[in-house]
Amino acid sequence: MDLPRTPSFRLEGRRAFVPGGSRGLGLGCAVALAEAGAEVVIAARSADAVEAAAAAMREAGHAATGVALDVTDLAAVDAFLDGEAPFDILCNAAGVARHGPALETEPDDFDAVAALNLRAAYFLAQRVARGMDRGGSIIQISSQMGHVGGVDRAVYCATKHGVEGMTKAMAIEWGPRDIRVNTICPTFIRTPLTAATFADPERRAWIDEKIKLPRVGEVEDIMGAVVFLASEASAMVTGTSLLVDGGWTAG
Ligand SMILES: NC(=O)c1ccc[n+]([C@@H]2O[C@H](COP(=O)([O-])OP(=O)(O)OC[C@H]3O[C@@H](n4cnc5c(N)ncnc54)[C@H](OP(=O)(O)O)[C@@H]3O)[C@@H](O)[C@H]2O)c1
Repeated sequence: MDLPRTPSFRLEGRRAFVPGGSRGLGLGCAVALAEAGAEVVIAARSADAVEAAAAAMREAGHAATGVALDVTDLAAVDAFLDGEAPFDILCNAAGVARHGPALETEPDDFDAVAALNLRAAYFLAQRVARGMDRGGSIIQISSQMGHVGGVDRAVYCATKHGVEGMTKAMAIEWGPRDIRVNTICPTFIRTPLTAATFADPERRAWIDEKIKLPRVGEVEDIMGAVVFLASEASAMVTGTSLLVDGGWTAG
């Protein structure tokens, strides 16, 4: 009797591009992909930070390089991609938040958050997908705030709900080319992005009440999800989101 075999979670022979990979969730994604065998290129604006992260990964035995790149600059993204072999995996973790009451949102804040979280995410996916002639996996680090609302988070929620929508539409268009498009939707995870929120006692109480598990998220909590979505283990998964939210959106 032939038993079914678990598809591989390994990523040897794959090239992964991880914008936002110099710290926080993006660095977790980059390390997870490299530990699974992928060759990883991380990108961020700070040349020092991106090189330090890539060097630490190489010291740990991973195949990693870093590039200083502002992903909101489409011409710079194109110039970078033109000089690279095609990527099999895009894991986009470059993101920003400017939280505040919706009645007080300034257009500049809206534009800055949308430029990175939505516009850059859209065109990164488009540009990397154009080169994916042997299929591939596109993973956007979205948020639980792509599925629910949150106080002081109207702009952030708008961009993350937008990421969820474009992910579904891209999955429909690119499925025939065997390009899968998905999001990972984390809850609050300790990173530089969330330090101010965690430091606010009122917000901290809100977080503790909404997460059903008895702790907040850590970077390691999304690392398995990234490997799953990047690998053959998720070969039939596209146009959806993997909520790593500790039960936040369950109710
Ligand atoms: N932390 C959480 O609790 C949480 C929860 C849900 C979703 N998320 C999402 O996860 C993603 C990563 O969040 P994080 O907490 O890891 O944030 P983070 O610690 O602030 O890291 C953000 C990363 O993006 C890079 N970046 C920012 N602007 C960029 C640009 N214009 N071009 C290229 N790279 C840029 C940063 O490097 P430079 O500043 O040097 O460019 C850094 O590497 C975001 O999309 C965020 O919305 C986070």
